[in-house]
Amino acid sequence: MAHFSAMKWIVILLFIWSTSAQQCDQPVTAARFDCYPEPFVSQEKCLARNCCWKPTNQFPKNRSKNSLEIDVPWCYYPRDFPTYQIKTNESTAFGQRLTIVKQQSTYMPNEILNLTVDLIYETAQRFRLRIYDSTKKRYEVPLEVPVIEKKVNITDYEVSLSQEPFAILVKRKSTGMTIFDTSVAPLIYADQFIKFSSYLSSPFLYGLGEHQQSLLIDVTNQWNKLTFWTRDTPPAQHVNLYGVHPFYINVEMKTNMLTNFHGQFFLNSNAMDIDLQPLPAISYTTIGGIIDLYLFTGPTAQDVIQQYWDVIGKPTMPPYWSLGFHLCRYGYNNINNLRAVIQRMHDAEFPYDVQWTDIDAMSSNLDFTYDQTNFNGLPDLVHSLQSEGKHYVNIIDCGISSTQSSGTYPPYDDGLKRGIFITKFNSTEPIIGQVWPGLTVFPDFTNASTVEWWTNIATTFHDTIPFDGIWIDMNEPSNLIDGSHDGCTNNSLDRPPFVPHVLGDSLSAKTLCPSAQHALSSHYNLHNMYGYFEAKATNLALKTIRHKRPFVLSRSSFAGSGQYTAHWTGDNGATYEDMYFSISDILSFNMFGMPNVGADICGFRDDTNEELCTRWMQLGAFYPFMRNHNGAQKDQDPAVFSWTSQQIMKQALIMRYSLAPFWYTLHYRAAIASETLVQPLHFEFSNDNKTLGIDRQFLIGRAILVSPNLVSINNTTMVHAYIPEDVWYEFPSGVKVKVVGVFVDLDTPLEKINIHVRGGFIIPMQIPGTNLMIGRGNPFTLLVAQSALGNATGNLFWDDGDSIDSIETKSYNYFEFLLISNKLTINAIVANYKDSPMRLELVRVLGVSKPVTSVTVNEKDHKGFFYNIPDQDTNRKNTCTSFRKTQSTLSFILGYSI
Ligand code: NOJ
Repeated sequence: MAHFSAMKWIVILLFIWSTSAQQCDQPVTAARFDCYPEPFVSQEKCLARNCCWKPTNQFPKNRSKNSLEIDVPWCYYPRDFPTYQIKTNESTAFGQRLTIVKQQSTYMPNEILNLTVDLIYETAQRFRLRIYDSTKKRYEVPLEVPVIEKKVNITDYEVSLSQEPFAILVKRKSTGMTIFDTSVAPLIYADQFIKFSSYLSSPFLYGLGEHQQSLLIDVTNQWNKLTFWTRDTPPAQHVNLYGVHPFYINVEMKTNMLTNFHGQFFLNSNAMDIDLQPLPAISYTTIGGIIDLYLFTGPTAQDVIQQYWDVIGKPTMPPYWSLGFHLCRYGYNNINNLRAVIQRMHDAEFPYDVQWTDIDAMSSNLDFTYDQTNFNGLPDLVHSLQSEGKHYVNIIDCGISSTQSSGTYPPYDDGLKRGIFITKFNSTEPIIGQVWPGLTVFPDFTNASTVEWWTNIATTFHDTIPFDGIWIDMNEPSNLIDGSHDGCTNNSLDRPPFVPHVLGDSLSAKTLCPSAQHALSSHYNLHNMYGYFEAKATNLALKTIRHKRPFVLSRSSFAGSGQYTAHWTGDNGATYEDMYFSISDILSFNMFGMPNVGADICGFRDDTNEELCTRWMQLGAFYPFMRNHNGAQKDQDPAVFSWTSQQIMKQALIMRYSLAPFWYTLHYRAAIASETLVQPLHFEFSNDNKTLGIDRQFLIGRAILVSPNLVSINNTTMVHAYIPEDVWYEFPSGVKVKVVGVFVDLDTPLEKINIHVRGGFIIPMQIPGTNLMIGRGNPFTLLVAQSALGNATGNLFWDDGDSIDSIETKSYNYFEFLLISNKLTINAIVANYKDSPMRLELVRVLGVSKPVTSVTVNEKDHKGFFYNIPDQDTNRKNTCTSFRKTQSTLSFILGYSI
């Protein structure tokens, strides 16, 4: 009997072992989903979670070291890990509502066992999934997103459910491609730990910022961890940076020769990790809020972006002057140095529009002050810049000094009275941190009274120094001491059960305690949105103060920030590598709805050198936002360099300034039609696999290809550039490119930047002035680049340049250009801006294949034309064989006023 019983137990154990072994069997290690994302996993800890433990020959990296490249997890979910099953399922006006339940808690404290799932069929291309606690309201992101109450009937996607375990599957109807499938891993939903996973359609993604990374995230062979928690740190790979944009575009594998794209946006503002693995699959681990996920079916990448911006809001239209060249420096130190820079820029005749000052112009680093000793005369200097048509922007940090004697510093005294500072946990006392002026408090921009206070103090300062724009810095928010002056609490916000892989291993590293309180919620929930709310308040304040279109530059950002602010990529280094990464950055921020973006040209940290700075000025002339700024020892304004470098930089600036009407029109298109200003080649040439990972070149709009030299001449002057299959003309020469659809080596000596204009497009340009205000009245020109069929189209938006509501009130001009069968037509679609006449002086037509005998303008014979075969550049050795002078340029001088 005893013997039988022992046998029985052995059989039972063997059975359990074999079933659990089966449950742990995965065909490939890429199908393992991490069950122990915390640092220092062990067999014991893994088994305590009832997960599978199978070491591989690579030791799992110590996660606390913020490694992006993680390895195959040793501890992963068995297939039968407890999860939810559907309890009820009903049709609703918006789609479907389910309740799902889980029978038992697993390994995280405070699991929520009863959840509600809303499947919202918002538009034909937009599906929203919300999963939330059935019994208790949880924090939700305070973004104003569209509220859809009625389901759309026809969709590009099809949603299906799996009952047990609960899973959601979304397919593209037209191809059957799976674009979302949560069956890969169990859903874990605890108060401070929400984790879910899905298949990806391919291992190729774009987006997921702000991170320093190549443009294309390719997880074919690697595991990737990206952390989202706004943080003040010089951009480096594998760490969370200043902004949070949990949005991606996934390339779908080709079907019927076409590449489709879809996108996903996780509307969640808590600290989170996103894991990508070669299956390919994605996992989100957030420590708060709810699951609120949008799927966008594109099918083009620009469609996905448009669908995303419909949710987060379209970008703001910038003032025209802000498209010019901006010059800044942390360390002018006194007004004489500042004056000297302005003077040498003037003497060297550089086009430039905006002069900035940094915190060194403040008195003791105090916001809303200026140093009346070292910067004595700053108000006059600003007035004199403005009288020449230039503009001035100053910096404001969010940390307000809390240690000035009572009655001497109104921003603090007044703020304290109004109770608008972020407070300590369970207290009405402001939380104290430290920024440049010493101990500081932090305005809570989620409080409506803060906006009023901010506007008031900015107005008072504007009465002294009439700034034109505001630069908001350190708004992650950055705190030079971790947490606060008095440390943080031990509560579950300051010490959550799980901390995503943030730099510094703690949520309070270089910022405030998560338990600090805002009017809307805890800092734990709102930290990632601090910059968003500050930008919104600053944008409003500027409108009130100047009654003109605002210009704000913010370092920290969240989804939707582009409605209020431009962005720069923070404290980059003066290196070729950082110059290269700036291209992925500007392309990614365009996807994120913050198209007005640039990097600190020539590098912020460490001394630059003449060659690097020259190359960077050439590239920066084609960034949407162009600012040269540094904090290093040496000056790096263009006028400080040799005569030769100055001429090269000037040439780049002249190109930028002559293209200003084109850029301005792109901004208008972004603001009204959700088109990005710059885009990766793959978005435009998506059926050409060779473009997939190109991030050393980019397109402005759809028409201009920029292929900068990103390495030192000591390495090479050759730029290995891809010229996509189409008609291209070298800019400005107009020489047609002969070989397309291949990589070519473009000889790019220091004086050269490779710019190509695409056939089929008409680029509105203007004769540049020394600044954009001066140049505004100059004649316009049109660059008409013919397609293979001899056609071209383009458009031009023009208004007074800085009215707040010129788009809403239609007080602008909008022209459409069309070239077809040798006839160029200009249609004035809107012609309401009449304050300053527009004069079209010159039209250049590229790609004219037959000699021109006559030109007719408005049905009259026109004599003022010339027809030429563009010369090869003979001044330099051009080893590039891809250009040929087969096509010619027709130019005709007009002089028509509109
Ligand atoms: C940090 C900013 O990123 C940098 O641009 C600025 O110069 C310094 N703060 C000083 O204000």
